[in-house]
Amino acid sequence: MLKVQVSVGDPLALERDALVVAVAEDEERFKGIAAKADKRLNGQLRKLREWKEVKGKLGEVTIVHTLGLMPPRRIVLVGLGKREELDAEKIRRSIGSAVKALNKIGCEHIAIALDDFSGEGIAPGVLGRAAAEAAILASYQYRRKSAGDEELNLNSVELVATNRRFAVDVEKGIQLGTVLANATNFARNLVNAPASEMTPTALAEQAKSVADKWGLKCEIFDERWIEQVGMGALRAVSIGSDQPPRFIVMRYEGAEGATKIGLVGKGITFDSGGLCLKTAEGMLEMKGDMAGAAAVIAAMDAIAQLKPKVNVIACVPATENMPSGRAFKPGDILRTFIGKTVEVVNTDAEGRLILADAIAYAKQQGASPILDAATLTGAAIIALGPFCTGAFGNDEKLVQEVIEAGKEAGEPIWAMPMLPDYRELIKSDFADIKNTGGRPGGAIIAACFIGEFVGDTPWVHLDIAPTFWSEKDTHYISKGATGVMVRTFVQFVLRQSNR
Ligand code: BES
Ligand code: MN
Ligand code: ZN
Repeated sequence: MLKVQVSVGDPLALERDALVVAVAEDEERFKGIAAKADKRLNGQLRKLREWKEVKGKLGEVTIVHTLGLMPPRRIVLVGLGKREELDAEKIRRSIGSAVKALNKIGCEHIAIALDDFSGEGIAPGVLGRAAAEAAILASYQYRRKSAGDEELNLNSVELVATNRRFAVDVEKGIQLGTVLANATNFARNLVNAPASEMTPTALAEQAKSVADKWGLKCEIFDERWIEQVGMGALRAVSIGSDQPPRFIVMRYEGAEGATKIGLVGKGITFDSGGLCLKTAEGMLEMKGDMAGAAAVIAAMDAIAQLKPKVNVIACVPATENMPSGRAFKPGDILRTFIGKTVEVVNTDAEGRLILADAIAYAKQQGASPILDAATLTGAAIIALGPFCTGAFGNDEKLVQEVIEAGKEAGEPIWAMPMLPDYRELIKSDFADIKNTGGRPGGAIIAACFIGEFVGDTPWVHLDIAPTFWSEKDTHYISKGATGVMVRTFVQFVLRQSNR
């Protein structure tokens, strides 16, 4: 695991593989450490700037070899964009870009001259947190190649401050950022793991080992329990698979009598579509259909370390959605945990089915509010593109608070409409409701379906289909699982603890 530390002193005196230095786009002349480095390099950095090879654009990385003129082997100029527009996300992107570039060329020990990454209104704690998150997230890779691939070289990242008081606050930020980023990378690992390995049983074992590590309570329920308690929707989805389902419950108890927050995550370890089979292309990312579950389990890992004064119950329904001679079928009518009946119109709308039972269970266990994360609909991807998670709920203030937590955590979330009119579309002739309601507004319809099982409990549903997977490597994201919502969930829980 990558170690991020703070130190106090002159960064130019450090013998490291590289020293990362910030350059702002709207500042003609170098300031701070960049100016000092420029002097030692006989004005070379200034020339790069004059030649427009260095512009200071956000995420621009220029590696300058110091050829023995100073202890760091390389000075790495990284663009911040305009300093007046600087925020935590831009700090993450700039440091993330630098760390990625240096990891690629085999650097093991790097230093970052931290002071120059500050801007108006950015507290040292925020800076330390953003820097640690960026370094740990950017150095993440999921590789299973037998040989010849880039190795993970980066070993230590030192954030060098020149002022001791500043460093104390930076250190607190680093500790928080380290926990959050490691939890996010853990979620990425769960999602990136092939579905044939990350089965419901394996996912439950992962949850159990998180719980054992920090002394959380953890219950793993099997297919017999699922049937006995009447989770007919989860049972129906699971029945076509040779892999047995699991219902995972984790409990963090941080303060007796305090709020009990419910976190629920969709845990479809592989979504083939069931009998309403997806295309080959449509199935490719479906090992990641448990990204909501991964976010919940990984958030519990972080929460257990950060010890907020609240209670959290995590519920994860875990199953495959497979076609077989035993599989559930279009036209089936299911009886859910709360007794409501559901007509199955499409077996590929399975996420809302298992969430219906899981959310109802969280509610029965006294959770309020309840937050769920789910790779629920292709329609959310069409609505939002790849940059925003969709938020739906029955309590506008709570939706806003989750969006705010997302902002603080660096995960954009956008509120979607939830008018009662949409409920018309899931009326069924044969059962209480049906599981699909046509393509237009598909993400909203799915949310409304889940809402039928929530009642008055304040609830926010986060559709992470748009954001759980990245098509390419950028700044601190690598291709594949993003680990989205781990940081938002934890931020939300910390906010409840602090009020
Ligand atoms: N897991 C999928 C949604 C999905 C698609 C997530 C692509 C991430 C990327 C979900 O179970 C599903 O299949 N939804 C259907 C619902 C439809 C049948 C009403 C969809 O979105 O097409
Ligand atoms: Mn599906
Ligand atoms: Zn699915």
